[in-house]
Amino acid sequence: MTTETAPLRVTLIVGSNRHGRFGPVVADWLLDHLRDRDDLVPEVVDVAGADLPTDLARTPEATAALAGITPKLAGADAFVVLTPEYNHSFPAGLKNLVDWHYGEWRAKPVGLVSYGGLAGGLRAVEHLRQVFAELHAVTVRDTVSFHNAGAAFDDAGTLRDPSGPDAAAKTMLDELVWWGRALREAREKRPYGA
Ligand SMILES: Cc1cc2nc3c(=O)[nH]c(=O)nc-3n(C[C@H](O)[C@H](O)[C@H](O)COP(=O)(O)O)c2cc1C
Repeated sequence: MTTETAPLRVTLIVGSNRHGRFGPVVADWLLDHLRDRDDLVPEVVDVAGADLPTDLARTPEATAALAGITPKLAGADAFVVLTPEYNHSFPAGLKNLVDWHYGEWRAKPVGLVSYGGLAGGLRAVEHLRQVFAELHAVTVRDTVSFHNAGAAFDDAGTLRDPSGPDAAAKTMLDELVWWGRALREAREKRPYGA
């Protein structure tokens, strides 16, 4: 296998940390899709497990909290960010995790999956595009979104009608792989920003 075709290391970031959150149901569905592909090797960073302080100061506590997170971002060739919508944007805990990092995002692609009420988290997705542009990351065009997400899955966490979301996930992940390979190759040839 050449570097060009080697599987991409993709880190899924689970963006909600609310007690009683719905996020893990969507995350499990998404992880099945990531694991099904032989062009991706997934890792997970869960904002709920990231006890990151908000002062962005490198205290010993912050260093300890980052130890389980930063390597999974630094080592990734691509990201998938799973976000709910809170008040027309994405959750504060997710922003804090993003803000704790800089070079880890650079010149890498980001796929976006969202859920929420009527708008399916699409406003959160558009806000994340602005944030990742500032960090020199590339968000891929197609996304997956679940409106009224709670009703889309049954009590066992199975999608009632998987056809649309499954097709959307394939489209988004195909784009992510294209960008991930292109940018990995480009970073190897020429360090970004050098
Ligand atoms: C504080 C808060 C604000 C919310 N604001 C919106 C919103 O603006 N638009 C929307 O579609 N859903 C909104 N919702 C619904 C959430 O997107 C939905 O409950 C989702 O399941 C939350 O993700 P979580 O359960 O993983 O925390 C809001 C929920 C919360 C808790």
